[in-house]
Amino acid sequence: MESLNFSVLVLAAGKGTRMRSTLPKVMHPLAGLPLIRHVLNAAETLTPKQISVLIGEEMADVAAVSKPHKTLLQKDRLGTGHAVQQGVAGGALAEAEALVVLYGDTPLITPDTIQAMLAKLSQNPEAALVVLGFHTATPTGYGRLVVEHGALQRIVEEKEASEVEKKITFCNAGIMLFRSNVLPELLAKLDNNNQKQEYYLTDTIHHARNAGYTCLTVEATAEEVLGINSKAELAQAENILQQQLRAQALEQGVTLIVPETVFLSKDTTFGGDVVIEPNVFIGANVHLADGVHIKAFSHLEGATIGAHSTVGPFARLRAGTVLGKNVKIGNFVETKKATFGDEAKASHLSYIGDATVGNHANIGAGTITCNYNGFTKAETVIGEGVFVGSNTALVAPITLEKGAIIGAGSTITQNVPADSLSLTRPPQTIITGWATAFRARFKKEI
Ligand code: UD1
Ligand code: CA
Repeated sequence: MESLNFSVLVLAAGKGTRMRSTLPKVMHPLAGLPLIRHVLNAAETLTPKQISVLIGEEMADVAAVSKPHKTLLQKDRLGTGHAVQQGVAGGALAEAEALVVLYGDTPLITPDTIQAMLAKLSQNPEAALVVLGFHTATPTGYGRLVVEHGALQRIVEEKEASEVEKKITFCNAGIMLFRSNVLPELLAKLDNNNQKQEYYLTDTIHHARNAGYTCLTVEATAEEVLGINSKAELAQAENILQQQLRAQALEQGVTLIVPETVFLSKDTTFGGDVVIEPNVFIGANVHLADGVHIKAFSHLEGATIGAHSTVGPFARLRAGTVLGKNVKIGNFVETKKATFGDEAKASHLSYIGDATVGNHANIGAGTITCNYNGFTKAETVIGEGVFVGSNTALVAPITLEKGAIIGAGSTITQNVPADSLSLTRPPQTIITGWATAFRARFKKEI
């Protein structure tokens, strides 16, 4: 059967006071991405006609991460029904046959589940809407789904539920799918005559039944529809997602020696035969090519690692790090906005920032790119095959041309021509017998 074409409206106007944070709730990161991005990514996979995001005032950051999708403003927060009214008034339907309503704070929702809801609506022409439900032993706080003779009769919110209804364990996840040609009339019938004096989206079920439509449910697991209202729930979602990401990585052939100690991001990508040792943190936007080996206790963010390169142990790769093939970044090396050519090495104790390192270059232990003068950042260019001796300060802007050699302990402030030696080093003094005489002053021998 032809599936319905549809648009998506993501509700994200809530401030999330229980997060106890100045950040809007949907901006809190989960596996390296803001909550709202997880929801948008799931929606995007299904290529809807349009995705729009309903935000509250002072949520410019939410609008920015929601791009290219449009955002609509809900000034007064009068309930989920009011939210969808505002969305529809702002053009959220976009002339699609159906509207999927998602919550910005329910990030683990999968495209498959949304697809199952769409399939159910398209197979049941008499249905006005589909509600996503889940079973839980602890239903307190959720709207309860009252199902009779296999059909959804109504949703009772916690505050209005009778003692008998409170015992229902089939709950509303909040995610709903509406047939577009019915939705406006259902929204028009909503009122706020209830305990919370809010316009409840859940009252659309009652109005749809009264108008002669049926209402259906699709069931998800409680994990998938976990809503984030507090830091505790955020941590719970992180735990669930990390387990999923590790399982996917293992399935893809990544070796995780102690999986539960490796933190991954939703957008981490792996080539074949990648090995990740214990206690590694991989933040957003990290890409590991074939045969990459990340050694223990390394921290990576915004880094692209070329084939067969090794990183760590105890390395820190910051945003803008790009490693070619067979690169070696060893212990206590920090990189930032740094490109390393094939076979380049920085094996120990270095800071390489705002730099380009050529193929086969060797950066000795203790090399520092002095990229900051307190006001501005400057670039260091290290050519192909350059050898930088240990404990060297490279004061940027500076260029070491191809094949140059820098003597250990130098502070390099001028460009070094190709194939030259450069070093800054006071001449070494030797005073024969001085040490013996010195000890004699203290009446000591070795
Ligand atoms: C809602 C449902 C409840 C369901 C629960 C699942 C209603 C009336 N109740 O209750 O049946 O079990 O979700 O978590 O729908 N929002 C706006 N603007 C508003 C109000 C809400 O954008 O004016 C957004 C919030 O940011 C949030 C979502 O809608 O993402 C849900 O709102 P919330 O107030 O948390 O609803 P609940 O009372 O939890
Ligand atoms: Ca909620």
